[in-house]
Amino acid sequence: MMISHILPETGEEIRRAVYNGAVFKITDSVIGQDLAAEIGEIVTSELGEPIREAQFRLTEEQFFQQIGKLRKKFYSESYFHDKLRQVINHYGFSDREHAFDPMRLRVVAHEGYKNPSAAPVYYGHRDTWYGNPQNQITWWLALHDVEEQDTFVFYPDYFHQAVANDSECFDYDSWTSKSKDLKIGWQNSNSGREALYPQLRENPESFDNVYFSAKKGDILVFAGQHLHQTLKNNTGLTRFSIDFRTVHLEDHEKGIGIHNVDNRSTGSALKGHIWPQEIS
Ligand SMILES: [Fe+2]
Repeated sequence: MMISHILPETGEEIRRAVYNGAVFKITDSVIGQDLAAEIGEIVTSELGEPIREAQFRLTEEQFFQQIGKLRKKFYSESYFHDKLRQVINHYGFSDREHAFDPMRLRVVAHEGYKNPSAAPVYYGHRDTWYGNPQNQITWWLALHDVEEQDTFVFYPDYFHQAVANDSECFDYDSWTSKSKDLKIGWQNSNSGREALYPQLRENPESFDNVYFSAKKGDILVFAGQHLHQTLKNNTGLTRFSIDFRTVHLEDHEKGIGIHNVDNRSTGSALKGHIWPQEIS
C-alpha cells in the first residue's frame, strides 16, 4: 500500500477507494491549514508557547488538566462540529448523509509510553474494534509538521486479513456508561486497565509497515478497518493532532463498506455520533 496524494473528485469515489484500503494524504489543503492554525492558537492560549514543550514547563497534573479542558472543548462545542462539517463538505462528504464522531485532540507526550495509564494509546488496533461501524472513515489532521517517526504506522497487509486481538473485551455501552470522559478519550489514572481497550495480540515486528510524514494542515483519510499503531515518542517534543470519524449512513444501512475480518467488539458507537441535522 502506498499513501496516495491524489484525491478522487467525488466523495463517493473517495469512500469506495478507502473501503478498498486506500489511504489519502491531502496536502496543500487551505481548509486543513486554516483549521490547524485556529486550533493551534487555542491550544497555545491554554498551554503557552511553544506548545510542544509545554509538558516540560507544567507539572504533570497541570498538563493533564489543561489538555483535558481542551479535549472537551474540541469534542463537545457545536462550533467545532460546524468546522468539521465544513471540512467534510469541502471534500464531497455531505454532512446531510454522514454521522460523525467529533474532533479528538490527540496528545502524545515525549516518553509518554513510560506512563502505564497511557498504555492503550500505543496498542496496535483497528478503530473499528471500539464498537464502530465497519464503514467508518477516520480523518487525521496534523497540527504541526511531523516526521515519519513522530506519527503512527499502518500495517496494510492486515486490511483484509485477521490478526490476533482481544476486541471482544470492548463493549461500547459499558464503556460509555463508566464515564463520558472516557469517550472523549483522555485517560484518567485508572483508565489504562487493559481489559477496557482492545489491542493487537501479535507481535507486529515482522509486519510490513507504512510510515508517513506530514506538514501542518495536512489531512490523512483512511478506513477504520486499517490496522495501525501510534509510535513511541522519543523526540523530546509532544505531538499534537486532531482526528474525527465519519460514517456514510446509507452505505452503512446497505452494508456497503468493508468486510469484517476480526472485529468482535459489541455495542454500536454510531448511536453516540452526531447525526445529520433535521432539514427544516
Ligand atoms: Fe486509531
